[in-house]
Amino acid sequence: MSAEVTFWPSGKKVTVKRGTTLLDAARRANVLIQTRCGGKAACFMCKLTVLPGSELMPISDNERRKLAGLDGEGIRLGCQARVDGKVEVKVPLDPLKAAIARQLARQAEQDEPLW
Ligand code: FES
Repeated sequence: MSAEVTFWPSGKKVTVKRGTTLLDAARRANVLIQTRCGGKAACFMCKLTVLPGSELMPISDNERRKLAGLDGEGIRLGCQARVDGKVEVKVPLDPLKAAIARQLARQAEQDEPLW
């Protein structure tokens, strides 16, 4: 059986086999998710926000322990969470892009005209 995963904010979709990790689905969809540990649940760089109504396989004890309560806020590790049906996830901004966006926002605040 297959499952459809949609990655936001790009809206890219991919159809994968049930049981595929979100990280593998992202790779197939050409969605960049940074990792450092190679999918061993050690770096936390693959954290994703799973939107309500998404169908994932039950969280493992290991992932739950690593997330330390964040799973209750919809956060999952892309390298551990496995799809079980239709899934929608929000991918955080690349850290470099996020830093540039923060700097530009700060600069825009400082450059506001006084009148
Ligand atoms: S890839 Fe490192 S924690 Fe998921």
